[in-house]
Amino acid sequence: METRSQWGTRAGFILAAVGSAVGLGNIWRFPATAYENGGGAFLIPYLFALLTAGIPILIMEFTMGHKYRGSAPLTFKRIHKKSEFVGWWAVLVSFVISTYYAVIIAWAMSYSVFSFNLNWGEDTASFLIGDYLNRTVDPGQVGSFVPGVLIPLIIVWILVLGILFKGVKKGIEIANRIFIPALLIIFLIIVIRAVTLPGAVDGLEAFFKPDFSKILEPGVWVAAYGQIFFSLSIAFAIMITYSSYLPKKSDITNNAFITGFGNSSFELLAGIGVFGILGFMAAQSGVPVDKVVDGGVGLAFIVFPQIINQFPAFNELFGFLFFASLVLAGLTSLMSITETYVAGLVDKFKISRTKAVLFGGGLAAIISLLFATQGGLFFLDAADYFINQFGVALLGLVEVVLIAWVFRKLKEFQTHANEISDIRLGSWWTISVGFITPIVLGYMMFGLLKQNIMKEFDTDTGNYEGYQDAFIMWGGWAVAIGALVIGVIMAMTKWKATSASSEMEQKKEAK
Ligand code: ALA
Repeated sequence: METRSQWGTRAGFILAAVGSAVGLGNIWRFPATAYENGGGAFLIPYLFALLTAGIPILIMEFTMGHKYRGSAPLTFKRIHKKSEFVGWWAVLVSFVISTYYAVIIAWAMSYSVFSFNLNWGEDTASFLIGDYLNRTVDPGQVGSFVPGVLIPLIIVWILVLGILFKGVKKGIEIANRIFIPALLIIFLIIVIRAVTLPGAVDGLEAFFKPDFSKILEPGVWVAAYGQIFFSLSIAFAIMITYSSYLPKKSDITNNAFITGFGNSSFELLAGIGVFGILGFMAAQSGVPVDKVVDGGVGLAFIVFPQIINQFPAFNELFGFLFFASLVLAGLTSLMSITETYVAGLVDKFKISRTKAVLFGGGLAAIISLLFATQGGLFFLDAADYFINQFGVALLGLVEVVLIAWVFRKLKEFQTHANEISDIRLGSWWTISVGFITPIVLGYMMFGLLKQNIMKEFDTDTGNYEGYQDAFIMWGGWAVAIGALVIGVIMAMTKWKATSASSEMEQKKEAK
């Protein structure tokens, strides 16, 4: 009899799922994406994507994990032998994401320390790029290690792998029970302060006022879907893995709604906080809100320090709280991203959790060192873009097409979820997963491929961010395609039979 680890309580599972969803995506990515895509104009596509793709796919993944009780590769193998590679592909996408995600948490860790003396000074952009990241090389060059990134990076991995060693119930669940309430409290303090700053109202108006001309731009929709996938941790093996640890009697649909709305509430809260603060900054410098900054990485690590400098009081404290919230949110997500490959290795090779954490996590930690070099920022930027568009979003498309159209599993999944959930799934769910999501994602993927292959970016080289062809090839395409190819190879290797020692360890873990 197979013994699988289990969550201790329902609240434990929900906290872990919310902990996975709420991450750098909410604080670092959402406000910047909303800002770049017209502020308020972004909210309508965002909510549409949440209701037609985000929550429906979350319900689907919770159902898959619960029904087949396996890591993503095992779940897909149990659905159909030939689809195991999709599970590995998702696991490898997670693997890649974990390697750079850890580095952004490391930056946030450094910045929480910098907050004590506002070390970033007046010119926060040259502090980030020059003093801190020491980015003096061209895209594609590595340079030497940057100790200021390397040291916190090692701490991040020790923390995350240490928690994963302890297991699902005693490690991940307990860590989330501590980190998530702490994060919420810190974040509420920041947001309350943000909306009471002079000028905040103008920022909030920019955030909430829909600009209908922008809504017609396809790019805004692509950004909204991309954000929902990344932010809800769907289509990268995480939610399948986490729900495989659910007890038999678990409410799936309700849990998915709580996770989805919990995550988006946090995201909107982050938006309110950030736009309130941008409004304050605009008022200080006498310019309109949409002219304050460029988006991107810069928003958290360049603009925020700048604004913290201008805070009326307690600058150091607010700086610390902001970056500490990034660290907490990031750690709970990184645990879930890393757990996908730990679970995959345990299931397939029947090795102990300890060995899986050491091998999988260790390898990810070693590869992540690349991003702690002088050229790290460029590699991170290219890997993040390509793995999200041609990893996560493409996987979302492949997943819904396979489940809805190739294996025709929607009815079966609907019955499974309805049997154990309070909320009953009806046509909203089947139409969203079977029609709306595949159509929108298919259209989006076509546009993205065309833009990247035909070099239609508005840059010198026509490539994303104006990078040279060779760099795009190795830093971008090779990473995204590599995840798929290695996924296929992993699916071709043999499954090991359960050994007595691994069984014993799993039993111990499950207690
Ligand atoms: N869902 C995680 C985030 O938002 C990956 O950062």
